[in-house]
Amino acid sequence: MSPKLKIGIILSTTRPGRFGDTPAQWLLDIARKRQDADFELVDLRDYPMPFFEEKVPLIYAPVENAVAKRWAAKMATLDGYVFVAAEYNHSITGVLKNALDHLYSEVQRKPAAFVGYGGVGGARAVEHLRNILAEMHVASLKHAVHVGMIEMIEMIGMLREGKKMTDYPHLRDAAKPMLDDLVWWASSLKAGRLATV
Ligand SMILES: Cc1cc2nc3c(=O)[nH]c(=O)nc-3n(C[C@H](O)[C@H](O)[C@H](O)COP(=O)(O)O)c2cc1C
Repeated sequence: MSPKLKIGIILSTTRPGRFGDTPAQWLLDIARKRQDADFELVDLRDYPMPFFEEKVPLIYAPVENAVAKRWAAKMATLDGYVFVAAEYNHSITGVLKNALDHLYSEVQRKPAAFVGYGGVGGARAVEHLRNILAEMHVASLKHAVHVGMIEMIEMIGMLREGKKMTDYPHLRDAAKPMLDDLVWWASSLKAGRLATV
């Protein structure tokens, strides 16, 4: 029997007081009830790499910076990803873009799903992220969870009124098909990768 699928939930912000922990932990709690994959948080705070300063693009040589090497090694162990994507100036955070620039073969032919948050549920950031991932040979999936889609209602509820992610069951309802689909793709692409090495 092949080893269990491993899925990383990527926290894309690092600032003190970030909101990102709330949706990331919520998704992890839901995901860990599943039997079809192992889920773990991958927090960019744990990988404080410099702005990209590798001597050559990674298509030509492996990454050299020690922290980036560790980050790339972690991403390589995973069969799929959920990016918990904050919206900064209608795109993803700089820290996530920089981290992605430090990857090459580690993520190729693997699937990604998304939990966006911010105005319009982080949709603009998620759409930018899909474009970036296409260049990286990552398969971005249709299903996503968007926290704050309509006038940031859920985020305002949590930040100002003491509500929790679990007070918004439609978010859980959106997470279910997203995770179902992600596991299907992770399993199928893993089989494909193994068949072609
Ligand atoms: C630099 C910066 C830019 C932002 N730009 C946007 C934006 O363009 N659209 C939006 O809806 N929210 C924007 N926001 C609000 C963030 O989506 C919101 O603060 C969110 O909580 C940020 O994630 P974090 O708390 O995990 O850092 C911005 C926040 C920051 C710090």
